Amino acid sequence: MQTVTTLSELRAARARLSEPVGLVPTMGYLHEGHLSLMRRARAECASVVASIFVNPTQFSPEEDLSTYPRDLPRDLSLLEAEGADLVWTPTPEVMYPPGFQTWVTVEEVTQPLEGSMRPGHFRGVATVVAKLFTGVQPQKAYFGQKDAQQSVVIQRMTCDLNFPIEIVICPIVREPDGLAMSSRNTYLNPEGRQAATVLHRGLTAARTAFEAGERDAKQLRRIVTGIIGEEPLARLQYVSCAHPETLQELKMVADMALLSLAVFVGQTRLIDNVVLGEKE
Ligand code: PAJ
Repeated sequence: MQTVTTLSELRAARARLSEPVGLVPTMGYLHEGHLSLMRRARAECASVVASIFVNPTQFSPEEDLSTYPRDLPRDLSLLEAEGADLVWTPTPEVMYPPGFQTWVTVEEVTQPLEGSMRPGHFRGVATVVAKLFTGVQPQKAYFGQKDAQQSVVIQRMTCDLNFPIEIVICPIVREPDGLAMSSRNTYLNPEGRQAATVLHRGLTAARTAFEAGERDAKQLRRIVTGIIGEEPLARLQYVSCAHPETLQELKMVADMALLSLAVFVGQTRLIDNVVLGEKE
């Protein structure tokens, strides 16, 4: 496994890889969710490239850029064990050269949900992912359903900019008690960690109601709100029952819906989702 930082090192190493190349973009502090993307890429591609870059432009000034967890030596040994061929760890200067002023803005699908709570977030994500794509030139790129809106945004951008890349969305990997794995789970103290199971419990209750025939989106949201409300350490920021592709809020669920939420547990902001109407 080779590790590169500069664009010239990346280009030289990329030229030697066998095709097809799969890319797994990450911000590091890897867990089983990230590793599930690596395994899928390893199974489907002749070469696997991972990137590790805590992208400053997708954090707003009041967010957790400076405290975002990092452990590069551990990440590199996990990637090596998963059979990565190449790891790209660009610096902020490589990604954002002096005078940088070119951005990728995806319009409608970045407006609701995370986009409305985190202004500028998806401009940073789309821009960095476009730069990862042009740097690595993969045939396939792997993203997690954990960040459902991010996956929609990346698919839209890839189509709109004619990137010749297949986007593969992988299922959410959870802890045994249902908590979706996230690098940010490390911020939780033991009480918060226990309280954080409420996200999955809320989503599961709504899914059970959906499976019993409930199709009223307001009612499904209300079920989630009720369960989050029973957990004193949790504060619901939003719950949404939306069309899985347009992300527009629904009145009634026809076949499928993306049920998603953001919850503060103490200072830690957690997101989770389920797709209603999809087999587990
Ligand atoms: P990061 O949060 O490190 O996540 C990297 C990838 O892992 C994303 O595609 C994310 O959806 C996926 N992932 C995270 N937790 C997961 C879980 N529990 N199950 C399955 N997949 C999971 O997302 C980012 O980084 C950044 O925004 C990035 C795309 C790298 C751009 O900076």
